[in-house]
Amino acid sequence: MSHIRPFRTGDEPDLADICLRTADAGADATGLLDDDDLWAEIFVLPYVARHPEFAFVVETDDGRVVGYIVAAPDSAAFEEWFATEWWPRHQSRWPRPEGDPLPVSASRQDGIVRYAYARRGGTQPFGDDYPAHLHIDLLPEAQGQGLGRRLIAALEDALRAAGVPGLHLVASAENTGAIAFYPRVGFTPLPSPEGTQVFAKRL
Ligand SMILES: CC(C)(COP(=O)(O)OP(=O)(O)OC[C@H]1O[C@@H](n2cnc3c(N)ncnc32)[C@H](O)[C@@H]1OP(=O)(O)O)[C@@H](O)C(=O)NCCC(=O)NCCS
Repeated sequence: MSHIRPFRTGDEPDLADICLRTADAGADATGLLDDDDLWAEIFVLPYVARHPEFAFVVETDDGRVVGYIVAAPDSAAFEEWFATEWWPRHQSRWPRPEGDPLPVSASRQDGIVRYAYARRGGTQPFGDDYPAHLHIDLLPEAQGQGLGRRLIAALEDALRAAGVPGLHLVASAENTGAIAFYPRVGFTPLPSPEGTQVFAKRL
């Protein structure tokens, strides 16, 4: 039986690996970009660096980490920190892609790097009612056993205890598994930018 426990320093390499292996709309993204490390540096490692208290992992009986949930309790503040402190440390490794807007020939990696440069506090349309946001990923071996539901519950308990009134997330519109999952665990779909599906929940 796998169990859920709080994130611990030292879990980061496992979280980065899970992020990569689920990053392509829920499927393995290994080799999709020139640099596999980019996914985790944007979508999971900043969260555990800034808010380890809102991160939980799934651990198997033999001690392997096979899933996680991470969150920012105040998305506007988190995005501001990402823009001013986290991402600047990465700018020499991933320089800003040329062209504004990006040329149609731009690579998928260029598009993701451009997204990282564009993240800013105060640009989140769901901030007032649902200030927190999350990312959740389980390796295939851990999916479909109720662990996603339990990770969501663990995070919600932590956010409620901290007085956070609501929670949202943005899924890829192509991620049919995720789009089936969130309503089953109490989230409501909201009008969303093209190619995405936003879900939200009051706490
Ligand atoms: C999406 C994900 C987090 C769901 O977690 P999970 O542990 O597999 O889901 P659970 O077993 O807790 O399922 C909870 C409910 O959602 C439903 N559900 C989960 N995945 C589903 C799927 N792919 N299709 C249909 N229903 C699904 C379950 O049937 C269950 O419903 P019920 O309790 O009413 O019977 C997990 O599958 C995952 O990490 N996928 C790959 C990465 C990913 O897509 N992350 C989300 C990015 S936005």
